[in-house]
Amino acid sequence: MNPYAQEIRRRRTFAIISHPDAGKTTLTEKLLLFGGAIHVAGAVKSNKIKKTATSDWMEIEKQRGISVATSVMAFDYAEHKINILDTPGHQDFAEDTFRTLTAVDSVIIVIDIAKGVEAQTRKLMEVCRMRKTPVIVFVNKMDRDGKDPFDLLDEIEEELKIKVRPLSWPIDMGQRFKGVYNIYEKKLNLYTPSKQYVTENIEFKNINHPDLEQHIGNTQAEKLRADIELIEGVYPEFEIETYLKGDIAPVFFGSALNNFGVKELLDCFIQIAPSPRPVQAVERIVNPEEDNFSGFIFKIHANMDPNHRSCIAFVKICSGRFERNSNYKHVRFGKMMRFSSPTAFMAQKKEVVDEAYAGDIIGLPDTGNFKIGDTLTAGEELHFKGLPSFSPEMFKYIENSDPMKSKQLNKGIEQLMDEGVAQLFTNQYNGRKIIGTVGQLQFEVIQYRLLHEYGAQCKWDPISLYKACWIESDNQDVLENFKKRKSQYMAVDKEGRDVYLADSAYVLTMAQQDFPEIKFHFTSEF
Ligand code: G4P
Repeated sequence: MNPYAQEIRRRRTFAIISHPDAGKTTLTEKLLLFGGAIHVAGAVKSNKIKKTATSDWMEIEKQRGISVATSVMAFDYAEHKINILDTPGHQDFAEDTFRTLTAVDSVIIVIDIAKGVEAQTRKLMEVCRMRKTPVIVFVNKMDRDGKDPFDLLDEIEEELKIKVRPLSWPIDMGQRFKGVYNIYEKKLNLYTPSKQYVTENIEFKNINHPDLEQHIGNTQAEKLRADIELIEGVYPEFEIETYLKGDIAPVFFGSALNNFGVKELLDCFIQIAPSPRPVQAVERIVNPEEDNFSGFIFKIHANMDPNHRSCIAFVKICSGRFERNSNYKHVRFGKMMRFSSPTAFMAQKKEVVDEAYAGDIIGLPDTGNFKIGDTLTAGEELHFKGLPSFSPEMFKYIENSDPMKSKQLNKGIEQLMDEGVAQLFTNQYNGRKIIGTVGQLQFEVIQYRLLHEYGAQCKWDPISLYKACWIESDNQDVLENFKKRKSQYMAVDKEGRDVYLADSAYVLTMAQQDFPEIKFHFTSEF
């Protein structure tokens, strides 16, 4: 057995995802409190980017600065090393979140009991489904009135397209919220609004015991028994294996703000959530407990100081142990590199570390050597897969507005695309460059950074596009014919892959009908 196997197995690397305002930041903070990583509530700054700030780029940068500090929060809890990866709340940074999901082994989804499943949650769950990431659902804000829990479970199954299994069950809600019955541990967790945490934690193996009435009153006792009977009848028995395969999501209820049900969630989480999982590389499957180090870059964060164009490249360690000052191979460059100041992220602090293990995330200071998806190894030729680009939602032509600076502009565009700020497509018909983003904010970010970091000026020209689709076909003739017919709408992405730019949903549907032998993909990885 690998000498570090024990270290690796005790790691739990996950992300908390939610629609903005469901309570992700609050839940994260409570988890950190349990881990002793912080000592006072309010210590974790929300990295939410205020909706009003869309045109105030410096303000956004400041707020993103906070998000670097809280990008990864690590702490020890009950023999386990927990790594929480934070994800930006603002939907214009959704692509960042998608990529972060490639670096986690499991996910906790926070849903607001009143609002139910919201748009952002649906999108993020799609990524989890694609990757078969195990998911736990935390239904938050039980201290407020909201949907009927059974209706909400149906909604989750329908909207998120995943089977659910409640492992705790609420006893009323809002002002009348009494607590939850923890089905997993067979315990009654009682809640007193003024105390704002689990006031009593009572072993309750048999909820038919008459003592139940004393704790929650006759009406609620009767209702709880009926609910639990229904749950046991309707939902399948909880099996860890099914959860680990991503086929079923256990559900917990609580209130993050009141720290209610959070410890119970964490205790169950460390028991059932996976330790680092094997990762698929192009060449082979890489096992976390292999002797040799390997990892990939899933996020690059630009420095906020425009005078130093240095970044932090975030590496997810996929196997073995990383050591400071060792030589590792940058596979795309085919050259060995040494890292003298890798950083780990302990709650709010960032500090230089001498070693890190599979499952951990480290930050490497970088001056433009890395791009998203790059692999580092102890020497082996490995290429990790699974960092898809999604079809952007917005498109604009990017034009140079200072002819003397076209070199700077091209370099800037290239580096920003490597960082994953947006996607570049080159129209094959007129040679013009098109930038695709998920939100308006990115265009402002790009323009600002090109000017301040590269001294290049750009302007945006409108282009009306609906979607970018990566196309492929087993039949080369059909593919060539399609490309000829649609020549004005054909582009290549940064890797030189063929992309069809559909200008409307109708045109796309027609193209799909007319060319059944062509596959149209909405992500770059298929
Ligand atoms: P996010 O990161 O998912 O965007 O959500 P965040 O934790 O910032 O929570 C959004 C709002 O919901 C916050 O209120 C927070 O206090 C509240 N909240 C979180 N958990 C609960 C809960 O269990 N019950 C209730 N009633 N509220 C909860 P805010 O007013 O927007 O911010 P703040 O001024 O309280 O920080």
